[in-house]
Amino acid sequence: MFDGKITNLPHIHRVRALLDSRAMIRNPVHVFEKYRTQLGKTFTFHFGGAKRAIVSTDPDFIQHVLLKNQANYHKSDIQVKRMGEFQGQGLLNSHREAWLRQRRHLADGFLRSRLVKLLPLQREVMNEAMTGFAQRAKEGPVDIYQEMVEVTLKLVGKSLFGQQISEPELQVIAKAVSDIQSFIVRQIVQPYLIPWFRITGQSARYQKIRIKGDRLISAYIDNRRREDRGNGDLLKHMLETPYEDTGKPMEDSQVLIESLQLLIAGNETSSNALSWTFYLLAKHPECIVKIRSEIERTAGKDPLDFAALHRLEFTLQVINEALRLYPPFWMIDRTSMEDDEINGIHIPAGITVIPYIYGTHRNPDFWPDAETFDPSRFERASVKERHTFAHIPFGGGPRVCIGSNMALMQILLILVSFIRDYDFELATKRPSKICPMMILRPDGPIKMHFRPVSPIS
Ligand code: HEM
Repeated sequence: MFDGKITNLPHIHRVRALLDSRAMIRNPVHVFEKYRTQLGKTFTFHFGGAKRAIVSTDPDFIQHVLLKNQANYHKSDIQVKRMGEFQGQGLLNSHREAWLRQRRHLADGFLRSRLVKLLPLQREVMNEAMTGFAQRAKEGPVDIYQEMVEVTLKLVGKSLFGQQISEPELQVIAKAVSDIQSFIVRQIVQPYLIPWFRITGQSARYQKIRIKGDRLISAYIDNRRREDRGNGDLLKHMLETPYEDTGKPMEDSQVLIESLQLLIAGNETSSNALSWTFYLLAKHPECIVKIRSEIERTAGKDPLDFAALHRLEFTLQVINEALRLYPPFWMIDRTSMEDDEINGIHIPAGITVIPYIYGTHRNPDFWPDAETFDPSRFERASVKERHTFAHIPFGGGPRVCIGSNMALMQILLILVSFIRDYDFELATKRPSKICPMMILRPDGPIKMHFRPVSPIS
């Protein structure tokens, strides 16, 4: 029987990969980690025993795919077709000229000058969120994952729409995102079941959930058209700024797609990054103390402006180490357009290529004792010496995350707000495990006790 050998790389027999399908649904990272340790930094795999893929944790290989010969590597079917069915074609999953035009247009909305203006608005949202949190923290252990989903949706909502998303709407959006993600993951790891999902009406059921989410976002767009509050939010930018080539602003239908994609890309990633950061900090209380004294040294009791936030060197090291251990995007996917070669590895046209971020962040050539939490890995001198593609939580090359600076600003703002006011510890001894959907989530609530550092008046 054809064993599925695609190229001159270590490979998993097709039948073995088919037998792995159930394990892939439960936890694709466990399956990839098993093969990474057995086969080394680059190997081949068939999703569901059918879809050919090369999986790599080699920074040289990944740099070639994402940067040096990026024109040969398009976003794969996973994003273009599977996610496209639910999110339409926007910045996240378009190509070539269409992508470049959209990227240039939207990039203006993420300029540093805009983020500087956005920060005071975000601080207002944060202050309000902290008041609500104080009450919940008094009542007993809180689920930091749930808290982070809500607070980041509020912040991203403010950045995108210039207003907070209401609590009931937050719930609808969070649930829709979660349900649709699980469905997309099933389609990726069991591609042979896609016709079955259509026949049995499962696809239609998830489309209904999407339509509900679309209606919500459309209402925000309509509102924004009616009431001009004059904030520098992204929705205003999309609705009003003309494209260079046509002189006309974005069509409403495209504004809806981009808003939804930005909301999903911006919320799930940051909320998971934060949840894992809190989790790691709770296990390393000495780092909480160190961050608090760094904040004190940098700003005393004053609010931190954009520049001051980015001077929190140790806090940034902690965030980078959390993003290394728990990268929200645990993999990136591309399809090769034409035959290519990377360091003697033949890449056939049409194959899926997976820069496997979770594994790259544990590649022993760059990360000794990789499972240990050690923020000093991100001291300046160490970073300078390391391969630039060994730590890629935001991807790399021209399609690097457009929202990385906004994400870091929000993560810093949230950490500063909580650590100034609270000490925290895990409420249970059960370790949180990873649950990799499209994004790397915890496998359940992360319950924590929060105690005020000094009595809140
Ligand atoms: C910790 C937070 C975040 C992480 C770890 C993250 C990670 C990533 C990664 C790895 C990519 C590259 C995907 C690929 O190459 O296929 C990406 C792209 C993208 N991200 Fe983020 N992201 C974060 C926050 C945000 C935020 C806050 C926004 C916007 C509000 C955002 C919007 C986007 C968009 C639109 C793209 C597609 C860019 C393009 O293809 O040109 N992300 N992100």
